[in-house]
Amino acid sequence: MSAEIIDGKAIAADLRHQLEKEVRVLSDGGIRPGLAVVLVGEDPASMSYVTAKERDCEKVGIYSRDIRLPVDTSRETLLKLISDLNSDEDIHGILVQLPLPEGLDEEEVIRHIDPAKDVDGFHPESIGRLVLNLDGFLPCTPHGVIKMLEASNIAIEGAEVVIVGRSRIVGAPLANLMFRKAPGGNATVTVCHTRTKNLADVVRRADIVIAAAGRPNTVTADMVKDGAVVIDVGVNRVDDSSRPRGYRLVGDVDFDQVKEVARAITPVPGGVGPLTRAMLLWNTVESAKRFQEGPRTV
Ligand code: GUN
Repeated sequence: MSAEIIDGKAIAADLRHQLEKEVRVLSDGGIRPGLAVVLVGEDPASMSYVTAKERDCEKVGIYSRDIRLPVDTSRETLLKLISDLNSDEDIHGILVQLPLPEGLDEEEVIRHIDPAKDVDGFHPESIGRLVLNLDGFLPCTPHGVIKMLEASNIAIEGAEVVIVGRSRIVGAPLANLMFRKAPGGNATVTVCHTRTKNLADVVRRADIVIAAAGRPNTVTADMVKDGAVVIDVGVNRVDDSSRPRGYRLVGDVDFDQVKEVARAITPVPGGVGPLTRAMLLWNTVESAKRFQEGPRTV
């Protein structure tokens, strides 16, 4: 039997509707949530991501400030801009699009963002809070995966979850979120990586497989238990001369084969990606609510 295809676009649209209402209430109360998106350079993929984020803000009524800087922007200019945004009362979230051009230290730039405006959830303070199970901004893709499972009525608590990939922005934080004692957590989590022995054997144990390796066909049908849920976080460009752009997007999962054994599966595109974008809006609204509640803390 073919798997249920989890519709990330529809789940994200529902979340945006909910956020749109919250934005209206906040704005009526005098605080319109504001997001600053900073792009240094002209990397084409980054430019299209940033444009999409701005369009999303517009859809839900979030004020978006689009700041585009030349590729040779100095460290001092970028840090000064972030300091200004940190103290700007119209801005509740700051996103610096990564990767930064060579010569700029991403770690230093991220650390410079006020953790109270770190809507990407990349600041060491946000990551520390996540690991310690304290309130804070959650990184958007891991948070989106949890929302997607919850919206699809897939139980996380008690499930055997296998995550393939240990990146700092997906695998590692998602593992922490899914095993911590909190809603969306309480799973038994295994993280696989390039040194894992017998990847197929480990993945076959999973009730929920999360593919976040950044490589097409990392998860194939023989590795997936009958009736498992498969979430594909990968976004890979593969050459395809039949497409106008000369490439198409595929995930990390062999979708056509795996959908024949899984209970539910996410497509690429149209799966996790829309949720990642929706969770950025979510964090921006959260930040504005905290701003409204009083002194700025995370
Ligand atoms: N580059 C690709 N994805 C992201 C993201 O989620 N946040 C930032 N800041 N940069 C990115």
